[in-house]
Amino acid sequence: MSLTYCNVHFTQQPKRVVYVSGSLMKNLKLSGKKSVNLKFGGERIPAAIKPINKPGKHLYLASGIRKGIKIPNAGSVFLRSLTEGEVQIGPLIGVLSDGPTSSASNPFGSRTGFIKQLLRQGSKQTYIFAFTPRDINWENETVNGYFLNEAGNFIRKRVPLPDVVYNRLPSRRAEVTPPITQLRERFIRRKIPFFNWSFFNKSDIYRMLEKDPLVSRYVPESIMSPSPEQVRDLLERHSLIYYKPNSGSLGNGIYRLSRIAKSGYYARYRKNGRNALLRFGSFSSLMRTLQARHGRLLNGYVAQQGIRLIEIDGCPIDFRFHMHKNGRNQWVAVGIGAKKAGRGSVTTHLKNGGSLLPPEQALSRAFGGRADEVLRNAKNVAITLAEAIESHHQHLIGEIGFDIGIDKDEKIWMFEANAKPGRSIFKHPSLRAEGRASVDHILEHCLYLSKFRRRES
Ligand SMILES: Nc1ncnc2c1ncn2[C@@H]1O[C@H](COP(=O)(O)OP(=O)(O)O)[C@@H](O)[C@H]1O
Ligand SMILES: [Mg+2]
Repeated sequence: MSLTYCNVHFTQQPKRVVYVSGSLMKNLKLSGKKSVNLKFGGERIPAAIKPINKPGKHLYLASGIRKGIKIPNAGSVFLRSLTEGEVQIGPLIGVLSDGPTSSASNPFGSRTGFIKQLLRQGSKQTYIFAFTPRDINWENETVNGYFLNEAGNFIRKRVPLPDVVYNRLPSRRAEVTPPITQLRERFIRRKIPFFNWSFFNKSDIYRMLEKDPLVSRYVPESIMSPSPEQVRDLLERHSLIYYKPNSGSLGNGIYRLSRIAKSGYYARYRKNGRNALLRFGSFSSLMRTLQARHGRLLNGYVAQQGIRLIEIDGCPIDFRFHMHKNGRNQWVAVGIGAKKAGRGSVTTHLKNGGSLLPPEQALSRAFGGRADEVLRNAKNVAITLAEAIESHHQHLIGEIGFDIGIDKDEKIWMFEANAKPGRSIFKHPSLRAEGRASVDHILEHCLYLSKFRRRES
């Protein structure tokens, strides 16, 4: 397979002709050939070849061709020569998401900014668009995609099914409904790589990693849907536990339970935007209160050994490791943010009063001269964890956001793996460059999955 980068132009010629510059003819091994099959996304069209005398790598598509395979615009993209006489233009990348309304200027809700950044960076060298599940026409195998125009606004264009899909569907609930399950299966059936498959559940991840001897030591002891007796036992043994909803996020519904000899049991949690702390004389009164607050929903909780995190100014800190697969299919820790909990807060979430700082700064305050080594080790652990999750998962994963804690003994702990990690850490001034690198990694990995990256054999 050969891969080359070229400029695609449009001409008004109505015929099914492509004009190919000399060096491109040679590159694509088309010299002497009369015709070529052009492929774009899921579309194919035969075209007559007309060599032209022009330096550089240029491809001029007559309008019959351009309309036939629905090339959205001229620009610099890749060409991949497939079997004899077949050339693929692309890649055509689809970013799947959704929004609360069908508003034309803000179709992807709070994700619109990120999606525009992805499209802006991606359209320099690929065809990239965003779409919602409603924009696919499975009968014609086309998508009414959102592209970005020169002015940075969305513009709708009908294109073939993409070569790869980056999944950013925002709703956990919608994602398990039959239409979305069917949508994914349809992509898979057509052999269109689709990542990431879906949100993770905490208990699935803990269960998966506990069984893996390479990484089980990084997972705090966890019990899924524990009985009150099991919660009590865990609390007896660790004196601090986290009690959290299996498919929760943003710290919602999380309790930090502790047992202090002679004093009783304590529950810290977030209530109506404030931190609450309750004391109980007995374990059963603690459990009664939790049951009164959540009822049967407690069945969807996980009880987990609590880790005593390193602290700054008396506030615990943990870390977000934003992991990506690169253009060579390897995991990389692309962005790392240290999150300092708000005073009295159970979690380090920014919306609960937490603050973000560069990891070097947080670690040097906690570990002094050992900070570099601790960070290096944590990065390696995060990569090992990502590889482990990937190896036990049936579907493609290209991005994971880990919540990682470090204790005073420099031990690394994984609290959560997010399949569709938020991007708030990249708003911090010192992490802007990492934010761009994150977008670049997504694009690189799309190139890899769509086979528009050379692979080492
Ligand atoms: N076992 C634990 N020990 C110590 N802190 C924890 C533990 N589990 C969670 N936390 C803290 O609570 C935060 C939120 O927990 P997480 O499992 O990431 O749930 P969520 O889905 O709500 O983000 C973590 O980032 C960490 O600060
Ligand atoms: Mg989390």
